[in-house]
Amino acid sequence: MILAFDTSCDDTSVAILKRDGSYVNLVSSQDEIHKKLGGVVPELAARRHSEVIAHLTKEAIDRAGLGLKEIEYIAVTVGPGLLPSLLVGVAFAKSLAYSLKLPVIPVNHIEGHIFAPFFKRELKFPFLSLVVSGGHTHLFLVKGIGKYRLIGRTLDDAVGEAFDKVARILNLGYPGGPVIDMLSKSGDPYRFKIPQGLKYEKSFNFSFSGVKTYVKNLVNKMGALSKTDIADIAASFQRASIDILLEKTVRASKELGVNTVSISGGVSANSYLRELFKKEADRQGFKAVLPSKEMTTDNALMIAYRASLDLTSATDDYSTIEANPSLSV
Ligand code: KG4
Ligand code: ZN
Repeated sequence: MILAFDTSCDDTSVAILKRDGSYVNLVSSQDEIHKKLGGVVPELAARRHSEVIAHLTKEAIDRAGLGLKEIEYIAVTVGPGLLPSLLVGVAFAKSLAYSLKLPVIPVNHIEGHIFAPFFKRELKFPFLSLVVSGGHTHLFLVKGIGKYRLIGRTLDDAVGEAFDKVARILNLGYPGGPVIDMLSKSGDPYRFKIPQGLKYEKSFNFSFSGVKTYVKNLVNKMGALSKTDIADIAASFQRASIDILLEKTVRASKELGVNTVSISGGVSANSYLRELFKKEADRQGFKAVLPSKEMTTDNALMIAYRASLDLTSATDDYSTIEANPSLSV
């Protein structure tokens, strides 16, 4: 019975994972707060986490039909993420653990994303894992729990960040991913030739910084944009970025001879990515594993699940549990 917290960025999430696999996974979104400013403001995010975390915990316990006494472990994201945000979750988790005399399992947020697609599915190693979020575009070869080899990564912006920046240029608000995804359905993905950084380069690294400049210049040149123009820019950008992600990931699976490929993180909610990834898997004969929609963006269930895979890191020496914004895997 694990009670888990994730406050790595701008969403407060509390989850309970029971021994029988049933769960409660609550997320309190801060989009309304950060929308006005076009991105996440760390101090505002931390304040909001601190306002809602106790109430959200009570609600999770109630919905799970449990008493606090039935909880066996507390799991918490310790990094990577925004320091002020992480500190709220870590301090709350440690205080609760202290008062209930429970062990704490520190969890790396990226490992949460890596394993999220395998929740309630068969977990077999090795697999290739593409983590695509607001802060990460990382391709890992996963050989076991705790055994990760970084195969490729973005050399500049994360792909989710590119979605958010392009949305800001088009005045579509924050976060950019969901709105670009929706608008793209009515746009022409071939109207504009958006740069696909490092496409012809042999490595498995990515680059998304050229996209922002390209879209900015394009918008300046075009002047007033019609609804069709906006949808066409969104669709062309989405196609260019998702195609390059999939092309390199599929090539890596072939070159490394790895037959199971997963994609996770906020951008794995993208409908074009999900559709194309499954098609590619059928065509090329590899197994595609995607998280359920609720486990794509930040959530504490993935933290509880990762914690459940290795209970040996549980500790009651709370002083060793520290927020680390630049934690790597
Ligand atoms: O994993 P996540 O919730 O937070 C981080 O750990 O960063 O990912 C958030 C990112 C944002 O950049 C957001 O724009 C993007 O995921 N995102 C999407 C979609 N939904 C969320 N990007 C593309 N298409 C979507 N449907
Ligand atoms: Zn995340």
